[in-house]
Amino acid sequence: MSASADQRWPWWPLLPLYPYGRRRTLVRELIAGRLWSFEQVQGVWYVAVPIRMLVLRVREGLLLYAPVAPTAEVRARLRDLEERHGRVCTIVLPTASGLEHKLPVPAMARAFPEAQVWVTPRQWSFPLPLPPAWLGFPAARTRVLLSDGVPHGDQLDWLPLGPLDLGLGTFLEIACFDRASGSLLLTDALVAIPPEPPAVFDLDPTPLLFHARERGNEPLLDDPERRRRGWWRMVLFATYLRPRPLEILPMGEVLRHCLAPGCRGAKSHFGFYPFRWLPGWQADFEALTPGGRSRLQVAAVLERLVFPRQRSALVAWIRQLAGLKDLRWVVPAHHEAPVASSAADLTALADRIERGDWAPDHGAWETLAGIDTTLVRLGLVPGDTHQIPKPQP
Ligand SMILES: [Fe+2]
Repeated sequence: MSASADQRWPWWPLLPLYPYGRRRTLVRELIAGRLWSFEQVQGVWYVAVPIRMLVLRVREGLLLYAPVAPTAEVRARLRDLEERHGRVCTIVLPTASGLEHKLPVPAMARAFPEAQVWVTPRQWSFPLPLPPAWLGFPAARTRVLLSDGVPHGDQLDWLPLGPLDLGLGTFLEIACFDRASGSLLLTDALVAIPPEPPAVFDLDPTPLLFHARERGNEPLLDDPERRRRGWWRMVLFATYLRPRPLEILPMGEVLRHCLAPGCRGAKSHFGFYPFRWLPGWQADFEALTPGGRSRLQVAAVLERLVFPRQRSALVAWIRQLAGLKDLRWVVPAHHEAPVASSAADLTALADRIERGDWAPDHGAWETLAGIDTTLVRLGLVPGDTHQIPKPQP
């Protein structure tokens, strides 16, 4: 089978994100013989960020945490791991709200028909609330985390953040702590943004090179500096939706740059590039990576649109994580992983969130704040703190 056939993901129209029907996968061993990362990219209009499935070796075999699209390439690499470490025995969907993590689960479950599937409570679908079986989860072997128990409870701890009422649905994420390796597996709640482009973009740097340009009539050129510039800009889009140091060009000017020599292919969107980055734009990225290093943080989109009125629940959860014995690594589903983290690091993060300026309205946050204000005004999200009672274990 050709590489592109191996990377085909036929279910992409359910959530039509870049790179659509072709998902390249980077497999890395994060902790020798214990934890592996299967990384793809996903995004909107070339604003792509890494999305990661974690494969954890437990006593009974392999546990898949937050599956990615199970292309033939992914399945083949999992079969390789199975030969060395035992069968895939458990598939976990650790979030109620992250559609990008939910959609691959039914196909992954079909690929491993003997595996037990565990999902968080309060799965929801949009625009219609559908029962889990309609969402494709195999009813006979799907169980609900916490309310039906937990998988591998003698080796792993399961720590829910939420459920939190978002108005449009429920936020609930369940972290998984592997006591043997000191690894804390997360989905969306925390990230660490690396200053250099993640290695998964080496498989196809097109998104980086697209955003590295200053005008639509520049061809896509490849060098380390351009890759880094493109990465920084993509992170600002993904973090703030509309970065502050950015002008949207008038359509006449955009069209004038279209179809320039070297920009006449689909890869460069035929020269369609409506952005002009303003001098000093780098400062907003540098604020996300103090000292030029990645740092564990709450993604701005979550802080301003998901948790703006849930600071205390988030702080309490992070303090609970900080209490885990022998914590060494935080391993999120996006951006950098693993992130070396101690209890003191997580306590410091909780302190920063508790005492700092939370979910601000100004500066780089203006677009996110405007969306939140509109949703509150329309009554689509609650304007005050409102937490749903926790599911009973
Ligand atoms: Fe996510």
